[in-house]
Amino acid sequence: MAVGVFDSGLGGLTVLNAAQKRLPEVPFVYFGDSAHAPYGVRDADDVYQLTCKAVERLWDEGCDLVILACNTASAAALRRMQESWIPPGKRVLGVFVPLIEALTERHWGDNSPPREVAVKHVALFATPATVSSRAFQRELAFRAIGVDVEAQPCGGVVDAIEDGDLILAEALIRSHVEALGRRMPHPQAAILGCTHYPLMEDVFQKALGEEVKVYSQASLVAESLADYLIRHPEMLGPGTQSSFLTSGDPQRVSDKATQFLRRKIEFIAA
Ligand code: DGL
Repeated sequence: MAVGVFDSGLGGLTVLNAAQKRLPEVPFVYFGDSAHAPYGVRDADDVYQLTCKAVERLWDEGCDLVILACNTASAAALRRMQESWIPPGKRVLGVFVPLIEALTERHWGDNSPPREVAVKHVALFATPATVSSRAFQRELAFRAIGVDVEAQPCGGVVDAIEDGDLILAEALIRSHVEALGRRMPHPQAAILGCTHYPLMEDVFQKALGEEVKVYSQASLVAESLADYLIRHPEMLGPGTQSSFLTSGDPQRVSDKATQFLRRKIEFIAA
């Protein structure tokens, strides 16, 4: 009854961690495509090909349901996958919608027309590929009107986190927050639209100021997965073992993951 969780590298561990806490009885198979990270500087076709390959690997592990714990893949590849690639009996879900539902005060399945919501000025921090896809703005427009979104492509942050260079990551985040602040001086809310960024959430919060509400995906996605599995228990696949797969160097990736999650994580070669 395993569920697959995919990211280009380590970022999806933030989602996996929350999902494991919310659903302790469910085995999860995680696949981080560290050999090809970052995805955020690749074109949409490249992201699509890599994501399909990774999802197939998770299906082979007995995970009929795969969560793309990667905004870049969710933004650049998911719709194309859902329209023409996913076979019957399998499901692939992204991480955008739970976040946007939270921001727009909606419950799952509320398909009523877009309406005014409390938050009017939103800062979006994401990878260059996610920002240029405009997927966030598109999903938001289905649900809310009158929300001003200013997006900041955060070049370099994923690479720095993957390399374990947190000093560089912090410096880059400060400069990205500053750059956004010149275009939107007073955001009410900030979206961490990349699953790597919650690993540096305190840095974002400090740079933005305490008055800005920071939305990050891990717990929202975990809650939405729990809800989905109640509605679709048949999507718990036949796999029974939790494991961590990587296309990168298992020792190096395990060390970084252990450092980030502050518990022993052992990756094996995918
Ligand atoms: N964690 C991925 C995301 O949520 C990072 C993408 C990348 O590899 O650049 O977008």
